[in-house]
Amino acid sequence: MKIGVIGTGYVGLVTAAGLAELGHQVQGVDKDTEKIEKVSRGIVPIYEPGLDGLLKSNMEKGRLNFSSDLSGTIREADVVFVCVGTPPQEDGSADMCQIEEVSRQIAENLNRYKLVVEKSTVPVKTSYWIKRTMSLYRKSDVEFDIASNPEFLREGSAVLDFLNPDRIIIGVETERARDILLGIYEKFKDRIVVTNIDTAELIKHASNSFLALKISYINLISNICDRTEANVEQVAAGMGLDPRIGSRFLKAGVGYGGSCFPKDIRALVKIGEDLGVDMSLLKEADKINADRVRIFLDKVKKALWILKDKNIAVLGLAFKPETDDIREAPSIRVIRELLREGARLRLYDPQAMGNMKQLYPEEPGRLIYSSSPYQAADGANALLVLTEWAELAGLDLKKLKATMANPIIVDGRNVFEPEAARKLGFEYYSIGRK
Ligand code: UGA
Repeated sequence: MKIGVIGTGYVGLVTAAGLAELGHQVQGVDKDTEKIEKVSRGIVPIYEPGLDGLLKSNMEKGRLNFSSDLSGTIREADVVFVCVGTPPQEDGSADMCQIEEVSRQIAENLNRYKLVVEKSTVPVKTSYWIKRTMSLYRKSDVEFDIASNPEFLREGSAVLDFLNPDRIIIGVETERARDILLGIYEKFKDRIVVTNIDTAELIKHASNSFLALKISYINLISNICDRTEANVEQVAAGMGLDPRIGSRFLKAGVGYGGSCFPKDIRALVKIGEDLGVDMSLLKEADKINADRVRIFLDKVKKALWILKDKNIAVLGLAFKPETDDIREAPSIRVIRELLREGARLRLYDPQAMGNMKQLYPEEPGRLIYSSSPYQAADGANALLVLTEWAELAGLDLKKLKATMANPIIVDGRNVFEPEAARKLGFEYYSIGRK
């Protein structure tokens, strides 16, 4: 069985490498020729632990290659995984242009039966539109099937997630499609859940929105903790011991970001509203998240009063650890607000500075990038933490204090222990704990 993977973004690259690792013959394709040229030489455009090794070893074994010839890849393939982007539009809905374009391309190259698998996150009912588009554009009566197989990998642990999935969701409408996908994921047969296509599509949006809701929930509770003697980490730990709640995704902080949660929760709101469903629960979760940066900045102002001309070290720019991704990262809004107030910033992140430089280029005297957290902290009136990188959690606080102008930390991810920081003479602010 030959597999074509269309799109070599985050999901596409991991899917292509992961399917090859399962032993399949995979060709990844993208219209970005420069990207394809790089990936073919083993250069991975994103920072994702383990991905370069997985790509390289499978390319060496001859199971994986990359091409910019979309028609050729489709014609060669028995199964086509669609991994192109579905970026958000102004009204929250997903922009489906790329999916539509790919559907037409597949239809035009339908030389024999093919199974088309939606891997990108798409609104429920997308398969209807893919099917309709393909039926309109195919040149012969060659048969095809559509399936939904949403991806649940997390950035930073994507390879691990692909190779050790909690579940594989397969949404199909024919036995032929089901059997093909059961064959592809044979190795995980104990974790496969087969549903209809609408259900599979909805499982993805419902899962991400639920996780985002869970984070907003604990962030809401942290606001109560901030005004009382309660400690949000202990509240979360106490709640999490109930297996019906579970302890994961109960970490309060400066809010969720990334290319998935913010976009998916808004997309589901739009999907529901278009169907006449009251989606205010999820709208509130989105609103709570949007408010996290303001709440964090209030803490900074509580510590510094006036931000103008203050030297502020900002540690952690990625939307979460183990990635260089800054899409919808809280750091972007924090930096924007601090600059607006006239602060002078020194930024540091182990991986994401390159991406942040595209958005905020260096401006000496206003914003510079540092080669280490200690350098960023040098002469700082306050130090802010926005991503819980292990490197930051492991910082030598004594050394930091010696280099800072004022020993003030505002920790947006609760990476330090309040007592330890205070013992060393820091004025320490964090989320939902004293
Ligand atoms: C998320 C989902 O976790 C994946 O299952 C899904 O496949 C993926 O979206 C997707 O749709 O492609 P990801 O965005 O990579 O994965 O990152 P997460 O680990 O889920 O974190 C998302 C955000 O929530 C981060 O900003 C993180 O800092 C924040 N977060 C997470 C919290 O603030 N608190 C928590 O307890 C957990």
